[in-house]
Amino acid sequence: MKPVAKGNKPRTLVNCLLIGLAASLFMYGCAGDEKTAKGKKLYHHYCSHCHGDSGQQGEGFNWDRMPDPRPKNLASNAEMSTFSDKEIFDTIYRDMRDTEDPKVLDDDNYFAVSTMPTFKYTLSEEEIWGIVAHVRTLHGMSLSYDVPGRKKELEEVFQAAKPEMESTQAAYEAATEKAEAAQEAYEETLTDEQLEDYEYEEITLPEEAAFLIANEKFNKAKAGVDYFSKRPKKTRIERPDLTISEADLAQQVELGKKLYTDTYGCNGCHSINDIGGLVGPTLDRAGVRLNPTWVFRWIKNPQAMKKRTRMPNLGASDADARALTYYLGTLRAPISTAPIPDPE
Ligand code: HEC
Ligand code: HEC
Repeated sequence: MKPVAKGNKPRTLVNCLLIGLAASLFMYGCAGDEKTAKGKKLYHHYCSHCHGDSGQQGEGFNWDRMPDPRPKNLASNAEMSTFSDKEIFDTIYRDMRDTEDPKVLDDDNYFAVSTMPTFKYTLSEEEIWGIVAHVRTLHGMSLSYDVPGRKKELEEVFQAAKPEMESTQAAYEAATEKAEAAQEAYEETLTDEQLEDYEYEEITLPEEAAFLIANEKFNKAKAGVDYFSKRPKKTRIERPDLTISEADLAQQVELGKKLYTDTYGCNGCHSINDIGGLVGPTLDRAGVRLNPTWVFRWIKNPQAMKKRTRMPNLGASDADARALTYYLGTLRAPISTAPIPDPE
């Protein structure tokens, strides 16, 4: 038997396990760090202008221009430790809502308002968890939410929705076939004359309703899985029909103006007549400078038109985007440069 040189012991199973464990801990740590690093980058791109790189009040260049209520100090452990990870996530990942809606005001859990834009339609759920992890570091905490567990939960919802959709679909198809056969059999009993006057009456099958419900659930569950790690799809926005009567226009402009501040918080980032945020360009001449079809498409999906724009997709419905477009169309401030003096 060859003597084993000192310092060159053969690896035992325990050794290998320990090395494996250390490696996986290292990799787990790295994956976590990588997510936080990505979250930090995203925070700097999408949040710093309002919240500041360190989360301090008054630090972001847009701070003074934001309407009230202004953000809390994200760097304060005393203020921020009262929020759970999920509550911070929900502030960033939600729908924009009208805070004048009593249902919203009555909801104690609802603390987000329209001055904070949503990123639900811009970033993936996983990216937002990365951002939450970074926000936690700003006040000396770390993320404790089980992100892989959430992913698994979505997967399970999807696995449960699939057979339900398939069975209701099969039942719907069978019922359709049966109804069609019955219809044909009935039509065969009619004379040519009767057939001429005969009007086919569409019947709704109860199986259809059941299938539609299950199918919607399935699609939602599938989107949940698909968009956990992927950003929302950049769907092509159809050319809107923006023709409108004078009478309707006035009412739409009024609605658009309300949506602009109260629901979507556009004023947090854009100024009109020097009031409002500085993150995006001033919109006080939008009605002269911008094509309404372009504006509609931009509001519906800015990322589809400019990938890295800081303007998030706010999830505006077609009707809301239309009203906002009409409103922006009325903004026709004169060019603000001082008039050129008369040569005389
Ligand atoms: C247009 C400016 C603006 C941008 C951009 C913005 N926020 Fe905010 N944020 C606000 C405002 C204003 C509030 C306060 C809302 C309130 O008090 O209800 C807020 C609230 C918050 C809160 C809850 C703390 C509080 O004050 O109630 C968190 C957390 C937060 N933002 C994180 C983020 C993150 C992360 C991003 C980037 C992905 C971001 N925000 C982007 C303006 C902004
Ligand atoms: C978080 C900040 C933010 C919010 C909220 C926001 N925008 Fe913007 N917006 C921007 C930025 C930044 C740009 C510049 C786009 C670019 O070039 O990347 C922009 C560009 C635009 C433009 C094009 C302006 C031009 O002169 O080219 C329009 C129109 C516009 N936004 C409308 C809106 C409307 C309407 C809302 C509310 C529904 C809104 N924005 C909400 C940041 C924001």
